[in-house]
Amino acid sequence: MEIKKIGICGCGQMGAGIAEVASKTGFDVIVSEVNDQLLQKGLARIQNSMAKAVEKGKLDEASMKAALARLTGTTKLADFADCDLVVEAVVEILDEKIKVHSELDKILKKEAILASNTSSLSITELGAATGRPDRFCGLHFFNPVPVMRLVEVVRTVATSESTFAAAKGFAEKLGKVVVTCGDSPGFVVNRLLVPYLLDAIRALEAGVASKEDIDNGMKLGCGHPMGPLELTDFIGLDTIYYIGEIFFNEFKDHHYASPPLLKAMVKAGYLGRKTGRGFYDYSKK
Ligand code: CAA
Repeated sequence: MEIKKIGICGCGQMGAGIAEVASKTGFDVIVSEVNDQLLQKGLARIQNSMAKAVEKGKLDEASMKAALARLTGTTKLADFADCDLVVEAVVEILDEKIKVHSELDKILKKEAILASNTSSLSITELGAATGRPDRFCGLHFFNPVPVMRLVEVVRTVATSESTFAAAKGFAEKLGKVVVTCGDSPGFVVNRLLVPYLLDAIRALEAGVASKEDIDNGMKLGCGHPMGPLELTDFIGLDTIYYIGEIFFNEFKDHHYASPPLLKAMVKAGYLGRKTGRGFYDYSKK
């Protein structure tokens, strides 16, 4: 089956990024959000990002207009009925994702492929909530999606060869480099990245150094583009907290557990850049 129309469920940071890249590549794209306010916010995010790319000379005006003409938004999953591939990018909570996937399964045509952009939940478990575990896989993008070159394509024991090939082909068409992973928590990147971010928060909590010195240490000492606390602000403290909880439940290992400081900050609403405050203050930017 040729993949022509893509559905993106959830138009937050990740969903908007995937929708932008897919529509720029030439796919017809429909994005969904739970209400009109969030949908308009998500569509504006895509338009602004494309406008910035035009300003920087990375995209010409005509290509932007053509990409935006290929993009539509909806608040009804029923509008995904003619999609060939749907990538779910909703909040990292198992029950929410299961609800969305079982609903999509009923709406989509039989041959359509369903994928999740989950960072840490079990692709097998999500696929099992549908009647199409053979046409189910993980397509894990990285933030910011237009810049980061990697996509992890996750296959479960039930994912068919043709589904895997189609998902990999889709990611490559977007210009991404694919890493193939089995369905293990965090796949490759987050299994290594998240414990590192949690350790940096524990180091801050233990008074090892200031947040600036922890970040500068890793930026200047290891050549990372962002320090771990800055990167946690960028990804979202809530996302890292949820991933930590999922990992701890899976591995029962303290190394993967979210530290109390992270939990406290999430409960206080300090979620990072998106709320204007995380380890750093972004309210004036
Ligand atoms: N959309 C499009 N382009 C963007 C962008 C965005 N949101 N943000 C930055 N860019 C582009 C800029 O336009 C710029 O392009 P040019 O060099 O061609 O002008 C380039 O990226 C560099 O940007 P800046 O000069 O503004 O800033 P920077 O050099 O500090 O880079 C960054 C910004 C690319 C985000 C860099 O800091 C970086 O790579 N950070 C680490 C990001 C990272 O680790 N991401 C993975 C997170 S983990 C994840 O996503 C998975 C998960 O499941 C949790």
